[in-house]
Amino acid sequence: MKPKVYVTRQIPDEVLAMIRQACEVRVWSESDVPVPRDVLEREIADVEGLYCLLTDQVDEALLERAPRLKIVSNMAVGYNNIDVEAATRRGIMVTNTPDVLTETTADLTFALLMATARRLLEASDYLRRGDWQTWSPMLLTGQDVFGSTLGIIGMGRIGEALVRRAKGFNMNVLYYNRTRKEKTEEAYGIRYTDMNELLRMSDFVCVLTPYTPQTHDLIGAAELRRMKPTAVLINTSRGGIVNEDALYEALRDGTIWAAGLDVFEREPVVPDHPLLTLPNLVSLPHIGSASVATRIQMARLAANQLIDAINGHRPAHLVNPNV
Ligand code: GLV
Ligand code: GLV
Repeated sequence: MKPKVYVTRQIPDEVLAMIRQACEVRVWSESDVPVPRDVLEREIADVEGLYCLLTDQVDEALLERAPRLKIVSNMAVGYNNIDVEAATRRGIMVTNTPDVLTETTADLTFALLMATARRLLEASDYLRRGDWQTWSPMLLTGQDVFGSTLGIIGMGRIGEALVRRAKGFNMNVLYYNRTRKEKTEEAYGIRYTDMNELLRMSDFVCVLTPYTPQTHDLIGAAELRRMKPTAVLINTSRGGIVNEDALYEALRDGTIWAAGLDVFEREPVVPDHPLLTLPNLVSLPHIGSASVATRIQMARLAANQLIDAINGHRPAHLVNPNV
């Protein structure tokens, strides 16, 4: 008998077929929304593998219902939706999908930076509304990207990929990270600073750090006040890292110039969220890694790790190696 696994959403057919070769698969496929909690609690009871997304909360109470579970394979690089400690205590492997999405996410981060700096969405709306009367000297003027200073909070793989893009725009790059990355400094000519200096010196601040209890509300009112009034804040990591009430006030009052968010504290963000009423906020629906090729690679990588773990092999990207 093949081992049983549960897949919490429809994933590409070819990837599902891969899993079906090795496992008996059940899938939440009623609609493209997260599986309801009661269904997940029921489905997890007899499976050895869970293939899940960042929209699924895999907490201790859920794991308690899964006595046979060996692996939670998250189709995302971020895994703040999973209680890794609780999984480790139960001997359950947890895997994520780094590397395959690095360049795609750095592309989106830089695209959002440019769109925010040059007010692309506001300009496009302006034209479509029929407001475009004439070319005008200061109409829809933004901030320069080329030659400016970029501060990166979180120098992981995506941070490094962002540096490579910034270098093409002759940007001066500062970074803050829990641990200093001297090799990266040498390779790219970037400078390590503390948070205060980074916030004070940067024209663009990009948040690329994982979401943990330590990074919750990392950027709040005090941090926003340290930034330049012409500065732009970009977050393509996780919503809870930037305090949304503080950001709303900073954007409304001109404490900073603009922000670009691909992530929110509560997703999906509701259309009447106060932030969405501001013209200097560019908002995207969590699409950092959303290229066709990358999403297929992420789906495949998550499937391979699920299958490896179930077959007793060590998956490539175990986030709890001491399990
Ligand atoms: C997306 O946000 C991911 O963590 O992969
Ligand atoms: C985060 O996990 C990264 O790859 O930067």
